[in-house]
Amino acid sequence: MSRNSSSTIDPLLAWREQFPALTQSTYMVSHSLGAMPRAAEQHMQEFLRLWVEKGIVAWEDWLPAVTAAAGRIGRIIGAPEGSVIMQPNVSAVMAVLASCLDYTGKRNKIVYSALEFPTVSYVWQAEARRGARPIVVPGDAEGIGPDTDRLCAAIDEETLLVPLSHVLFRSSCITDAETIVRRAHAVGAMVVLDMYQSAGVVPVDVTRLGVDFACGGSVKWLCGGPGAGYLYVRPDLQQSFAPRVTGWFGHEAPFAFTMPEQRYAPSVWRFVAGTPTIAAMYQARAGAEIVGEIGAATIREKSLRQTARVLQRVDAAGYRLGSPRKDLWRGGTVVFDFVGSADVARRLNQRRFLCDHRPGAGIRMSPHFYTTDAECDAFMDEVARLIAEPPAHT
Ligand SMILES: Cc1ncc(COP(=O)(O)O)c(C=O)c1O
Repeated sequence: MSRNSSSTIDPLLAWREQFPALTQSTYMVSHSLGAMPRAAEQHMQEFLRLWVEKGIVAWEDWLPAVTAAAGRIGRIIGAPEGSVIMQPNVSAVMAVLASCLDYTGKRNKIVYSALEFPTVSYVWQAEARRGARPIVVPGDAEGIGPDTDRLCAAIDEETLLVPLSHVLFRSSCITDAETIVRRAHAVGAMVVLDMYQSAGVVPVDVTRLGVDFACGGSVKWLCGGPGAGYLYVRPDLQQSFAPRVTGWFGHEAPFAFTMPEQRYAPSVWRFVAGTPTIAAMYQARAGAEIVGEIGAATIREKSLRQTARVLQRVDAAGYRLGSPRKDLWRGGTVVFDFVGSADVARRLNQRRFLCDHRPGAGIRMSPHFYTTDAECDAFMDEVARLIAEPPAHT
């Protein structure tokens, strides 16, 4: 167990030895790519061992690994058994959901905030070709959060679906999902909650929120690498949909190889198309297990403490804060900006202070459960040093 700089014991620092990357960098980029857990390597080796030793019989292990991965995610997001299925990524999830919808009636609006992750917008804009009416609602004046009132006002009796981020990628603002879901349901619209920036750092409970669908991926706060995205479908809704984007793994009996038409699985597997990305299930296992073991509430408590610590430094230095100040609305990332921030972000990464930069928002940095207070301070010291030391022009 280690002591952090404020000399209070932080039991979460015991996890540090499970993340080899932490010895090689000041890792402040878990909102984009969570650090690799040591056990991911062993699990990947297990995947390969099964392949080489069991050959085709490896499917006996590989298919249950998909269900196990979905179960681990389900426990993190408050989803009951059998309501989550793995998908390659959020874009694929949105495409499958879009293919469930019919836009021929009056209820054909897809209403979302301009602050959503762009991939989500690309999918729903493309649905205009099939008759959907995408309505993009501007965010608040500072571009930090959605304008909840305006969003709610745009959600009406002609709204079919509201894609909503639980935490916005650019500002790390927590959205008022409860209010938006209430409004959507009051007028008969459905909600798909994108939890990519919340699950693993901000507690989320899809059952309590009553969302119709939810999705996310393992790349970021779940420390699981790419390819292990997920889709939650509210149990009472599952049988109402027949996705057009489909395939043999969505069939009630894939290994019966029947033709010609699809007979959908009587489970959440009906939302699956082709062969699942098996290697990604092994790769994502350790991260989801660790996050599940620590628990979202414990991670959140530490995250709030450390992001508040960084925020003080942002204020003291006079940088422009691009994420919410209030704990209630602040996700796991602190976003801040100043003239020349893109170049400073580039140089931070060169010096192994890992972070990223988004145009119009600035530097995004995130402590996670494995971060020390000293690392938060060192990161902010390095930002100040780099600002003071302008890059050499060649
Ligand atoms: C909120 C949010 N949704 C979706 C994505 C990514 O979508 P995909 O899984 O399709 O790559 C990201 C970030 O990469 C994100 O921050």
